[in-house]
Amino acid sequence: MEKKNFSLSYLEFDSADELPAPDRELLDRAKGVVESAYAPYSHYRVGAAVRMGNGQICTGSNQENMAFPSGLCAERVALYAAASTYPGVPVEAIAITARSEQFPVDKPVPPCGSCRQAMIEYEMHSRQKIRVILMGELGKVVVVESIDTLLPLSFREDGLKK
Ligand code: THU
Repeated sequence: MEKKNFSLSYLEFDSADELPAPDRELLDRAKGVVESAYAPYSHYRVGAAVRMGNGQICTGSNQENMAFPSGLCAERVALYAAASTYPGVPVEAIAITARSEQFPVDKPVPPCGSCRQAMIEYEMHSRQKIRVILMGELGKVVVVESIDTLLPLSFREDGLKK
């Protein structure tokens, strides 16, 4: 028996002002779309902005539904809009932020497991790392340099190929 480990390293910035300009711009776009969320059930609004390899940015916000599982997270709304608008263009980065109507979101907002799975598909397919920029309404910013880091031991599409 051998014990194996994964390690997760990420960058932490005290504020968005410290970010490189392209990351700050993407985060601003994510913040700018938060209010478009349809979140009458959770009162938790999430905004995501995706930067593509051609420089274009697509945004999305969470869209809830009274049949709860039919709703969709902001990340996948943005990602699927980006991938269907610019098919075949690699995803370079995604910024994610949130605002609650009930409490201040003062920590970075990491994507849920389903969104990580959706993101890693594009990362594996393009063989290019997707940078993830996370921030709440205020506070620190976390940058992770690849989805692979966020989803260790992930299900791999090559498992479906013979
Ligand atoms: N949500 C997202 O948009 N992204 C995530 O990664 C986690 C959660 C949304 C789904 C739901 O509309 C609300 O936040 C509360 O879970």
